Amino acid sequence: MTPLRPSDFPGATAFVPAEATWAQLTHASQECRGCDLYLEATQTVFGEGPVPARLALVGEQPGDREDVAGEPFVGPAGRLLDRALEKAGTAREEVYVTNVVKHFRFTRPRGKQRIHKSPARWQVAACEPWLVAELSRVQPHVVVVLGATAGQAVFGPAFRVGTSRGTVVPWPQDRLPLADAPVCIPTAHPSSVLRSRQRDEDLAALVSDLQVAVAALDA
Ligand code: URA
Ligand code: SF4
Repeated sequence: MTPLRPSDFPGATAFVPAEATWAQLTHASQECRGCDLYLEATQTVFGEGPVPARLALVGEQPGDREDVAGEPFVGPAGRLLDRALEKAGTAREEVYVTNVVKHFRFTRPRGKQRIHKSPARWQVAACEPWLVAELSRVQPHVVVVLGATAGQAVFGPAFRVGTSRGTVVPWPQDRLPLADAPVCIPTAHPSSVLRSRQRDEDLAALVSDLQVAVAALDA
């Protein structure tokens, strides 16, 4: 059998219902076959939280725990994120949380353990219609963009976390048009904070960027 290629997959557009309730939208996301990632993952992990919400967080893709639970940011990175949000003066329950890619991509280098593998650019592009559909309904005023993969998905391939983190930047309407354009605050990914050898400093920097986001809610 010839291996499947990106061009064998149609992208998510055809799976996103145009006029749908929120429940219909999340249900439809479970049926998505827009790229190859649905083949190996357990389930679609759609965004979660209040709809509408003033603040939205956008991560990379579900991890191992999220894939099993069907919910975003419920593993170790999610716990760190919850703590950071609290320190920044808000709470997870008030925030809409999602990822630019809705299925877990992983490798199995040995045995059963599944090791996270960042999504390819074509997989991020394939999944983009879900991000636009959810943010169109969530209508956030402020979007926090977590890490390089999410940043490149939103702002394009030239994006780097280091140059823009903690600053308020406009939503890229030319790339991803939304009826009510939010502002964005790029920051590091909570998983990179978990892996860091200077975890306290990096957590403080994440909290500080989230404080910029919370302040921007009232700007
Ligand atoms: N990392 C992410 O980017 N998203 C999750 O949901 C969990 C870990
Ligand atoms: Fe669809 Fe996105 Fe999953 Fe690919 S990753 S199958 S585009 S929901």
